Amino acid sequence: MIAGFGRSLCLCAEPKGNMVSRRLKYAVLPYVRHALQAENSSERRLVLDVGCGPGKLADFCSSLTAYDWYGLDLWEHELLQAKEIGSYKSVFQVNLLNGLPFRDNAFHVVVCKEVLMYLPNDRELFREFYRVLRPGGKVFIYNPIAWFPKTYAALKRLGRSVYQASDSVTLDTQSEWRTATRPCRIAYLSFDSLMREIREANFEILDVTAFRLFRNRIRLMARLEDYDWYLNFTQKLAARRPRLATDLMVVGRKV
Ligand SMILES: C[S@@+](CC[C@H](N)C(=O)[O-])C[C@H]1O[C@@H](n2cnc3c(N)ncnc32)[C@H](O)[C@@H]1O
Repeated sequence: MIAGFGRSLCLCAEPKGNMVSRRLKYAVLPYVRHALQAENSSERRLVLDVGCGPGKLADFCSSLTAYDWYGLDLWEHELLQAKEIGSYKSVFQVNLLNGLPFRDNAFHVVVCKEVLMYLPNDRELFREFYRVLRPGGKVFIYNPIAWFPKTYAALKRLGRSVYQASDSVTLDTQSEWRTATRPCRIAYLSFDSLMREIREANFEILDVTAFRLFRNRIRLMARLEDYDWYLNFTQKLAARRPRLATDLMVVGRKV
């Protein structure tokens, strides 16, 4: 557990400009912001947001003035939105299949939120995160997990044989990604495989936590999140038993 920020984070409404819904899928935002805020340093700190998408996380953390955010993503439309929010110093168009185009020891923090499930080279990317971090630097990996990833992937493939958006692309092939707007490969890791891969990249694990036990595809589950008792109960249980969760937050340090 990292000193200075707790597991039970309140999902209350944020100040204007930083509004987040009470939904558990957003609980990761205050978690990361508290963690960054708890770092006590007079030095300016550089954060690399890997697969930044439209830049929600950087926007949510924009009140932390000691941090300079750099975002990267594959697609231009995501980068345009990220640029528009004005929370990044720079954004880069990068295909993560080719690793990270940054020098060693360049960043104090790497965040990677809900990206690795689209990529076949997650092992290699953990090593890349390690390489671009300074010694003592921290990585925040937030990724979906599944109990039975292979069964889950098979069900997904079946679903895709019925429906597949025409503008999506399987990134393993590197084919025609410029004309696509979204990735279609989704391969979740299990709790154990995610932890193993992060350890194999040499990170020291500082914290493992989670925020929710169900994805909200089922309407009833989404409705339950209107109730405080459900939010509190689920969040506490997910934090205590992250193996039961649908998404995992792992914080590691480059030693
Ligand atoms: C589910 S979104 C998450 C976005 C952001 N991290 C967030 O949490 O709001 C996944 C992101 O990964 C990006 N992505 C997928 N494959 C990528 C690749 N090969 N290289 C770079 N980015 C990629 C997508 O463009 C998308 O923005």
